[in-house]
Amino acid sequence: MAGNGLSEVAVREALKGVVDPVVAQSIVEAGYVKSVAVSGARVRVAIELPTPAHAAKGALAEAIEGAVKRVAGVSGVDIDWSWDVVARGGPVAIGRAEGGAQPVHAGPQLGGAGAIAEPRMASVKNIIAVASGKGGVGKSTVAANLALALRSFGARVGLLDADIYGPSQPTMLGAVGVTPSVTEDKKMLPVEVYGVQMMSIGFFLGRANAVVWRGPMVGKMIQQFVEDTVWGRLDYVVVDLPPGTGDAQLSLTQLIPLAGAVMVTTPQEVALIDVLKAMDMFKKVNVPVLGIVENMSGFACPKCGHHEAIFNAGGGEQAARDEKVPFLGRVPLVTEIREGGDAGRPVTVTAPDSAAAKAFRDVACRVAGELAKANLAKRALPVLTIT
Ligand SMILES: Nc1ncnc2c1ncn2[C@@H]1O[C@H](COP(=O)(O)OP(=O)(O)O)[C@@H](O)[C@H]1O
Ligand SMILES: [Mg+2]
Repeated sequence: MAGNGLSEVAVREALKGVVDPVVAQSIVEAGYVKSVAVSGARVRVAIELPTPAHAAKGALAEAIEGAVKRVAGVSGVDIDWSWDVVARGGPVAIGRAEGGAQPVHAGPQLGGAGAIAEPRMASVKNIIAVASGKGGVGKSTVAANLALALRSFGARVGLLDADIYGPSQPTMLGAVGVTPSVTEDKKMLPVEVYGVQMMSIGFFLGRANAVVWRGPMVGKMIQQFVEDTVWGRLDYVVVDLPPGTGDAQLSLTQLIPLAGAVMVTTPQEVALIDVLKAMDMFKKVNVPVLGIVENMSGFACPKCGHHEAIFNAGGGEQAARDEKVPFLGRVPLVTEIREGGDAGRPVTVTAPDSAAAKAFRDVACRVAGELAKANLAKRALPVLTIT
């Protein structure tokens, strides 16, 4: 306690009233407040966010300052910011990252006689599926730029191209012809592109090699990607899933321990009908749907500035409202996005100041926010202890 009667307890009490709009929880309950130090009339608070891609840091700073300054005797507030991505919750066995480092999963550790095998991709905190009802809606484009946008905030990110029908990530990220290295014990190393760890079925197929995958082959191949790839310690891995809701998609969602799914649609009716079916599939396998991204939402003519809703607009947002899932944002139809994808130079990296890149960063913040919200909510559930 400082000389003027200002106490750390009073400051913590005041902070309880500060709610992070992103996760809809008090910052104290959500565990953001790492320390409070009082020195004379000045207060220093250390805040740890559950993601670096946080959409409301500015508002949070103001709310914290406001709340603390209302405590009697406070003249000023300093905030030290940090972040630590909250891992998917639930009863997940604790895996070890490479090198036997710290466990990375939150959740109860199941040990003893019935110890379960190391979970797949145990060094990854959150695996996010990007899915769509149909092809051609920009699923791969969104997956690549979402991964890169999360990276731009400082997160450690991977990208798994599991689209067996049309693996396009090597093209989109400019890694065509690259062959992943293999370790002595026959494990594959992801390829690093633009700071993101990437693995793709495309690395193992020729450019125009059409493959007819039968069900069991699909499962086996994905299992190899997931189990025999040496993923590093990553905050997020974005998975580009094949479009649709067939057996292949279903087995993938069961093989990969997904933290949540991002649905991509274009605004017109025919695409929306299919995205609803895909959402149903995720609900059946208990993967939370994080929300809907509306891609190719209106075209702004670069010559005259006229805005034309080629594929209609607002359909994705309406579907999100109808289905009561979050709307994760609109990505406009712009030539730079297509050109960037074809040339292996994604807009998020090559034109970070463009409206398109900003749209992808906004989507990334909403995805990371919804994930943090879901994970923190699970963490708040009571833990069942089996003895
Ligand atoms: N918002 C956008 N603006 C312009 N072109 C886009 C946009 N989104 C995707 N594209 C282009 O549309 C085509 C299909 O996108 P893609 O991501 O491959 O779709 P999917 O993976 O769903 O089949 C690609 O040529 C891509 O560059
Ligand atoms: Mg694709």
